[in-house]
Amino acid sequence: MPMRDLTDQDLKTPQGADAPHLRLDNVTVRLGGRPVLDWLDLSLDGPGLTVILGPNGAGKSQLLKVMHGLTEPEEGHVTWNGRPARQATREQALVFQKPILLRRSVAANIDFVLKARGLDRSKCATLLKHVGLLDKARQPARALSGGEAQRLALARALALDPKVLFLDEPTASLDPGSVLAIERIIQGAHDRGVKVILITHDIGQARRLADEVVFLHRGRVAEQASAHHFFATQGSAAARDFLQHRIVV
Ligand SMILES: Nc1ncnc2c1ncn2[C@@H]1O[C@H](COP(=O)(O)OP(=O)(O)O)[C@@H](O)[C@H]1O
Ligand SMILES: [Mg+2]
Repeated sequence: MPMRDLTDQDLKTPQGADAPHLRLDNVTVRLGGRPVLDWLDLSLDGPGLTVILGPNGAGKSQLLKVMHGLTEPEEGHVTWNGRPARQATREQALVFQKPILLRRSVAANIDFVLKARGLDRSKCATLLKHVGLLDKARQPARALSGGEAQRLALARALALDPKVLFLDEPTASLDPGSVLAIERIIQGAHDRGVKVILITHDIGQARRLADEVVFLHRGRVAEQASAHHFFATQGSAAARDFLQHRIVV
């Protein structure tokens, strides 16, 4: 397998002027007859790592799908740098809590997306090395542990050179060592200028990674603040209750 060191060109997304600007205006999504996103407004500007927090059922996963252009809102608009979200999907990658991997080798899971997108296939080994899976390249992906499978899913996402990386609870139900390994990969992507939007239930993880927190409650943004400010003050009662582990519905 061709192998060279990971270069900026392999994983880089330009900083600064290219930092994406997301706008959601009056976004409403209804499921089962009730709104799960309810006239939601949100702007994300600049390259900071955004963590989305909120109780179960608040609409976090739906919000991510709408931001990514996977789900069209019934009402409202989602734009990335002024373009409709669905036109920006190719510049973005999405990783779910449970990675969906091809029943092929670890390397084939990466090679498949590189080939499909017409990208440089020599990046495969480099990406596997980056996530610590080079020694498992020829093993079946389904034989990986949960943490390894998630690292492979992250490598596959990064193979697409995304400007935006969406992560929906990527470390839920993983052991602490796997969580930290995945956080290092996420932080690395962020440091290279990828806009990361992360949903997590792990308050410690939010404190470790977030530059900015968006707190979602009942399908609306209850609070948006710098991580420092959010954890120091929590402007909304819902966020205060959430951080004190009270049940909020
Ligand atoms: N296919 C569906 N049909 C009906 N309701 C749904 C469907 N998917 C999600 N929901 C509801 O939408 C709400 C928001 O879901 P979700 O975005 O998954 O919340 P979160 O990720 O914050 O836990 C929840 O109340 C959930 O039960
Ligand atoms: Mg969810």
